[in-house]
Amino acid sequence: MLKGKLLAALAAAVALSAPVLAADVDQAVLTNEARQQVKAFGGNLKKTVKKGMQAGGPTEAIHLCNTQAPGIAAEHSKGEWNVGRTSLKLRNPDNQPDEWEASVLADFDKRLAAGEDPKKMEASKLEDGQFHYMKAIPTGGLCLACHGEQLAEPVKARLAELYPEDKATGYQAGQIRGAFTLTKPVEM
Ligand code: HEC
Repeated sequence: MLKGKLLAALAAAVALSAPVLAADVDQAVLTNEARQQVKAFGGNLKKTVKKGMQAGGPTEAIHLCNTQAPGIAAEHSKGEWNVGRTSLKLRNPDNQPDEWEASVLADFDKRLAAGEDPKKMEASKLEDGQFHYMKAIPTGGLCLACHGEQLAEPVKARLAELYPEDKATGYQAGQIRGAFTLTKPVEM
């Protein structure tokens, strides 16, 4: 009798705690997966910029980014993960943040101002069957040729031609240029 009651109580406890536990475990696993995705996607983008810079300087690299960056994102979005980049000051208008993304980007800037290391900034949420993950993208020295305060004339001209609405200049090293933004459908 007692044993039966104990088992029932145990079963009830497990039933109650299981969904919570599963969600906890999933988020840690999903966050790790997201970090791997960012590494692969970001690494690929950086390789492309460097290749262009070596082949013909910033104007060639702009050409490569313009023609290949969207394709690289699409390539990395073939599986369950959807990967992309976004910013509060966009170059490519297709990278528009949604409401949550915009609020996270604003929060990243606040955290930077408060002294936090942008390399470690992340945010995530689980909502409507989707896991959402964002990781800040700090501006490095390599980025300034195309996102900095002083651009070479040919760079300015090329950007104006390809991105007439370009807002992604005027950055200094250490500022947050934008964020990687990823989603993956999850069973909830
Ligand atoms: C050779 C020029 C060049 C360099 C160097 C460069 N970018 Fe860009 N960047 C671009 C172009 C062109 C785009 C638009 C590409 C596209 O269509 O997604 C872009 C887009 C982006 C975006 C997507 C958001 C948006 O504004 O559309 C981010 C984030 C970004 N760059 C960050 C960086 C960072 C960080 C670095 C340095 C590690 C860097 N870029 C170096 C040219 C450059």
